[in-house]
Amino acid sequence: MGAIDSMFPASATLREGTPIVIRRAAPRDAEGLACLDQELVSEGLWTVRDPGGRVSLVEELKRIASYSGADRLLLVAVAGDGVVGEVAVKAHKAARCAHVALLSITVAGAWRGRGVGRALLGAACAWADAHPTIEKLELFVFAHNDRAVALYTGAGFSLEGRRERYIRFGDGRYADDLVMGRFRGNRGGNPRNG
Ligand SMILES: CC(C)(COP(=O)(O)OP(=O)(O)OC[C@H]1O[C@@H](n2cnc3c(N)ncnc32)[C@H](O)[C@@H]1OP(=O)(O)O)[C@@H](O)C(=O)NCCC(=O)NCCS
Repeated sequence: MGAIDSMFPASATLREGTPIVIRRAAPRDAEGLACLDQELVSEGLWTVRDPGGRVSLVEELKRIASYSGADRLLLVAVAGDGVVGEVAVKAHKAARCAHVALLSITVAGAWRGRGVGRALLGAACAWADAHPTIEKLELFVFAHNDRAVALYTGAGFSLEGRRERYIRFGDGRYADDLVMGRFRGNRGGNPRNG
């Protein structure tokens, strides 16, 4: 077993002292992940998907299975028995972009601002840094998502582009979308990343 295979499960402690476990998602997490997704879509604030959308358990199981490849990672943060967050990393399929992987992250509403996102992102970045072929992580984030942008910047992501009026909400308002990237090993400017 290589170092990258033995990285998870890992434990972390939230700011207020609550212990969490970060591990690869398994079929038993399908319900927890579907709830997390449902909450994100229903709140309608931080995703391009319409609030009406819903992911079934079967779809969630398929999604979990789709992350079994060596260039993919789906981690869950678990507190007690409950899934409180996830981070997904998937390398691009095209050979010329296969060194770049797309990252996305979600934390359950009640658990935000407590350090779950930081722990998940740190775990995903550590995995990517140790990966033999992934050289760069990229992500997209709404420009007004201050908390997410702060999290990414602290972990070593930098701004690569701004897609103006890329998001149009149902009420006719627009939002810009940011493209951020992080090259292997960039630990960011946050002293707590050391
Ligand atoms: C964005 C998200 C993943 C962050 O996870 P989190 O667990 O809430 O974040 P953390 O508690 O780990 O805090 C992350 C950083 O943001 C900072 N932060 C927290 N709230 C903030 C705010 N309102 N404004 C700016 N920065 C903020 C924290 O200080 C922390 O930085 P630090 O670790 O250097 O102190 C989470 O809030 C979430 O899922 N939001 C909804 C979905 C979403 O936006 N996903 C990302 C889409 S690209």
